[in-house]
Amino acid sequence: MQTAIFTVEGHADLHACLKPAASIIQRGGIVAFPTETVYGLGANAFDERAVKKIFDAKQRPPDDPLIVHVSSIEMASTLVDGPLPDIARRLAQRFWPGPLTMVFKKHASVPGIVTSGLPTVAIRVPVHPVARALIELSGVPVAAPSANLFERPSPTRAAHVLADLDGRIDGLVDGGEVDVGVESTIIDVTRDPPVLLRPGGVTLEALEALVGRVALHGSVTSKRVDGPVISPGMKSRHYSPKTKLVLVDIDDVHVASIKIAAVARDAIKDGKKVGLILFGHDVDVEPVVLVQLGTDAVKGARALFDSIRSLDSKSLDLIVCGATVEQGLGLAIMNRLKKAATEIIT
Ligand code: TXA
Ligand code: MG
Repeated sequence: MQTAIFTVEGHADLHACLKPAASIIQRGGIVAFPTETVYGLGANAFDERAVKKIFDAKQRPPDDPLIVHVSSIEMASTLVDGPLPDIARRLAQRFWPGPLTMVFKKHASVPGIVTSGLPTVAIRVPVHPVARALIELSGVPVAAPSANLFERPSPTRAAHVLADLDGRIDGLVDGGEVDVGVESTIIDVTRDPPVLLRPGGVTLEALEALVGRVALHGSVTSKRVDGPVISPGMKSRHYSPKTKLVLVDIDDVHVASIKIAAVARDAIKDGKKVGLILFGHDVDVEPVVLVQLGTDAVKGARALFDSIRSLDSKSLDLIVCGATVEQGLGLAIMNRLKKAATEIIT
């Protein structure tokens, strides 16, 4: 199949530009589009055959449920069984539209293929103007995972989507680079206290400032999970480059810098091509590529997946990556790096 590309930049009329993409969704096709977090791959959530195409295109296993994107709290309510929990209303008023996904008891009208047979449904209202306009023009809730092949880093630019999915999807809306760079925060509001399933664009600190204590699911800060995996995105291997990635998870920047240098130097001595991803570390070696993401977590999150993809395209033998503080967006950055890592040195 030929993937049709719709470019937003330079188009005077956003709605006119998005009309053909919305009509693909209405006709049961699948379209990648930018959101403020990462690019998503969307289909009409009520159309089971269209949703099945998402799983096929991504080579995503059927036990990994999708987030449904809507344009308002009212539209979200139609997908939820019973009234929205109080806490969800408060969270929605503060963080929607935006990078927050809430898990609710699902309404019977939501097809089981969307939720992988779970009795719950994950919903979010994106803030990106392209995503909002596309949902409104389509007139339906849009089921959309990140627009990457299964287990690969999420796409933050149209070129990343094409690298994974060109010829496998009906359309792509190129809306330039995304803003946040890591996926939405997922919070399960069917539990008391609510449970953070995935850290993301809305920080844990911001959630707790509004609603008090939020419990952390075990997969948030560790690579492997004991007990049942209630959200398959918690699987231990995720966001992975093809190149081996060693994460040096040591808080003290000076101690970490020495360790990163030692790991890199050993590999270089063995004739290996090494790339580095650093968060303000000062490392005394000469790698083939060095990406300095600095200590500002907002900037680090924005550049994270692009850096991993770019290093992965350089035919390296090894990527050595430092750690950043697990605060603010740093919690999401570290969560993604732990899942991406082949090995973690502590
Ligand atoms: O920022 C984002 O959330 C992006 C953009 C496109 O909106 N989407 C995204 O989707 O990251 P995806 O499919 O890559 O990750 C969605 C995660 C998965 O880990 C899935 O297991 C979890 O959401 N999820 C979906 N429905 C769920 C449910 N009912 N209960 C628990 N987890 C759920
Ligand atoms: Mg994903």
